Amino acid sequence: MRNWPDDVLAYGGDYNPEQWPREVWEEDIALMKQAGVSFVSLGIFSWSWLEPTKGEYDFAWLDEIMGMLAEAGIAVDLATATASPPPWLTTAYPEILPVTIDGTTLYPGSRQSWCPSSPIFRDAARALVTQLAQRYHQHPALAMWHVSNEYACHNLPCYCDTCAAAFRVWLERRYGSLDRLNHAWGTAFWSQRYTDFEQILPPRTTPTFHNPTQVLDFKRFGSDTLLQHFIGEKEILADLSPGVPVTTNFMSMTGFRHLDYHQWAPHQDIVSTDHYLVNTLGHPGPELAFQGDVTRGLAGGAPWLLMEHSTSAVNWQPVNPAKALGQTIRDSLTHVAHGADTIGFFQWRQSRAGAEKWHSALVPHAGADSARFREVARLGEIAAALGEVKGSRVEASVAILYDFQAQWAWSGPAMPSADVDYPEIAQLTHRLLRERGITCDVIHPSAELSAYAVVIVPTLYLVTDDDAASIRAAAERGAQVLVTYVSGLVDENDHVRLGGYPGAFTDFLGVRVEEFNPLLPGDSLALSRGTGARWSEFATATDAEVLISYAGGPVAGSPALTCRRVGSGAAWYAGTRFDDDTWRSVLGEVIDAAGVEPAAYVPAGVEAVRRRSGERSWLFLLNHGAGEVRVAVDGYDLVSAASVDSEIVLPPGGCAAIREG
Ligand code: GAL
Repeated sequence: MRNWPDDVLAYGGDYNPEQWPREVWEEDIALMKQAGVSFVSLGIFSWSWLEPTKGEYDFAWLDEIMGMLAEAGIAVDLATATASPPPWLTTAYPEILPVTIDGTTLYPGSRQSWCPSSPIFRDAARALVTQLAQRYHQHPALAMWHVSNEYACHNLPCYCDTCAAAFRVWLERRYGSLDRLNHAWGTAFWSQRYTDFEQILPPRTTPTFHNPTQVLDFKRFGSDTLLQHFIGEKEILADLSPGVPVTTNFMSMTGFRHLDYHQWAPHQDIVSTDHYLVNTLGHPGPELAFQGDVTRGLAGGAPWLLMEHSTSAVNWQPVNPAKALGQTIRDSLTHVAHGADTIGFFQWRQSRAGAEKWHSALVPHAGADSARFREVARLGEIAAALGEVKGSRVEASVAILYDFQAQWAWSGPAMPSADVDYPEIAQLTHRLLRERGITCDVIHPSAELSAYAVVIVPTLYLVTDDDAASIRAAAERGAQVLVTYVSGLVDENDHVRLGGYPGAFTDFLGVRVEEFNPLLPGDSLALSRGTGARWSEFATATDAEVLISYAGGPVAGSPALTCRRVGSGAAWYAGTRFDDDTWRSVLGEVIDAAGVEPAAYVPAGVEAVRRRSGERSWLFLLNHGAGEVRVAVDGYDLVSAASVDSEIVLPPGGCAAIREG
């Protein structure tokens, strides 16, 4: 990538110099050098400073800071600055403001108050991008373009009239005719048949449950609309700034469900993401690993950029504890272990004013004479030492399938159980496999599956015919395929696959379910081994070996875990949410059947992930536990810059990146 730091893992974060007087900039650059910062994302929220009134631009300050950064050898990920419209724009065109489901306008005064479908906003944004691309394409500091910021963070879904009109256009394009739309939406139900596209609205507040396919399509529309917005900016950059990579920062973290990133990822020159932790997570290790693997899946297995995370506290929870000293280093290296080639933060210097003044930063309010900044500088040294890892890929022979559209559909209105949350079993499965030392790729169901010894299909409620066929083919070829409850039930229109659940997989699994019996929160059923919660079924094993069945209750005798030989592989079915211990042992059986080995045999609490590039490999060891551990390993540890002869000792929170061989 042009001008991107070459011999180090890029290290830095969002830089907002416009928040500070000019004198501070000199100190910023000096401290960046001291901390080993090698890149900054510049200008993300600078529109009102770059274009103070319509069509009048002020680039003097940006020229100056770009010059200073170039001189210091710090690469710039230059924002298109279009994330947040300036007040003059929303004052002149209030129709660009987004509107919530019940008709509330989201006024300016915070950020991202723009309607995703607004042509006025789009034109204004494109005008600014054009100026920036023309002015800075040749600039020696420019390394990458950063389009907008965290699309959909605050302004999707928007239910305004502009979106209603754009939704109709999108639907006409998708369906071609009202007949096809009426069929797809199942409008024979509740007298919803449309006879003119003009009658169609976004799923605004209604008396009771919405049409589920309308809701699903509105989500698809929202994601597509913003993607078109991104592409609109990217086209200008590709035209005026050829050769400079373009990205936008995703939010591939649990809880953010607005965009189908699998559709977005192919349009990125390099996938980048932000990752923040919430207090409710408990130990962050499993979440960091899962989302790292999700992001790597989006990147097609290639390295990705961690654009933002936090050095310490965030400021958007009711209570925002600080991170323990050392956690930022361990969290960052966990991201790197899972494929990140960049360590980025929000933000360089903690703000003095504004809504994020209590959010941590690389330079805290206390200044550089602080334990936090010393930790930041240490991380800078480590990022430099890890340079040789760049470009290598994470090794995994287990795939967990993950689909935002299946998640959208399952979270639709009036479903069998709100207690079955789409990613819950995927995340639990990932966590238990991680505890066993098994690295997983988290990938879209349409991804190439041939390299995997194990394919796990957790609650894949919606699946297309093609993807279902590809999953079945993986078993034929020799993979152990493990399908869970709530998979294969509907097609892409959210129409039920008839003839016995789980629809797309009934014959494949040799299991036929006639009726679901979701369990009330807190209830569980005894099984011939362990217990089941959340979900149970009246099922028959038509052509599969029953390994676990219900020991009592309404579905007594029904199979809960089955296995069927398929080709040279097998099709496993798990029909309930097993207790963790039972699920752990079931996963162990599947892994053993496939002969999959962990990246390394390590003590409990230690995570081991291997990155490889040709003949070279690096074993990342992350001690997430509370005690000192000893791991048997040979090589050279890049983190401590020391040879390791047969064993490494890691203190609590300690990390190593062992160059093997
Ligand atoms: C991100 C955003 C940053 C900052 C950060 C705070 O969502 O991109 O601009 O707001 O959160 O955690």
